[in-house]
Amino acid sequence: MKIAIGCDHGGIVLKPSIVEVLKKRGVEVEDFGCYDESSVDYPDYALKVAEAVASGDCDKGIVLCGTGIGISIAANKVKGIRAGVVHDEFTAEMISAHNNANVIAIGGRVVSPEQAAKMVGIWLDTPFQGGRHEGRVAKITAIENKYFK
Ligand code: RB5
Repeated sequence: MKIAIGCDHGGIVLKPSIVEVLKKRGVEVEDFGCYDESSVDYPDYALKVAEAVASGDCDKGIVLCGTGIGISIAANKVKGIRAGVVHDEFTAEMISAHNNANVIAIGGRVVSPEQAAKMVGIWLDTPFQGGRHEGRVAKITAIENKYFK
C-alpha cells in the first residue's frame, strides 16, 4: 500500500509520528510537503495529495493542517476524494467503517502526535462495513457526478 501525506505549517507537527507508524507497518509513504514550519497555504498540499489518490498513484491520503478542516475542504474539491476530519479513536474508526474515506484530515493544533499516529492505525485497520453504508456513499458519488464536470 502507498499513502500520500501532505501538510501545512499548522499540521507539520504530526507528520513524523504518522510517517513512523506507516513505515513500521510496511506502508510506502509519498511525502508531498511542506517540509518546515514556514507559513504556506494548505490548499496547495491538499491538491497534491488529493490528485495522487484520485489518479490511483497512491491508495489513500493523509492531510494535516491546524484544525484538519481547511485542508479537508480543499481535498474534497478533487473528484473521487472522500475526505473528513478525525479527532479521536471513534471518528477514526467510523470514517472507514461508515464513510469509506480515502483521505483523512487531522489537526496539529487539535490532537497530539501520539494520538494522530494511533488514529491513523485505527483508520487503516478498520474495513468499510458496506451494507446500508454502501448506498449512502454511492449517493455522495451521485452528488459528485451531478456537480463535478
Ligand atoms: C493556518 O494558520 C491554519 O489556518 C490552517 O492550518 C488550518 O487550520 C486551516 O483550516
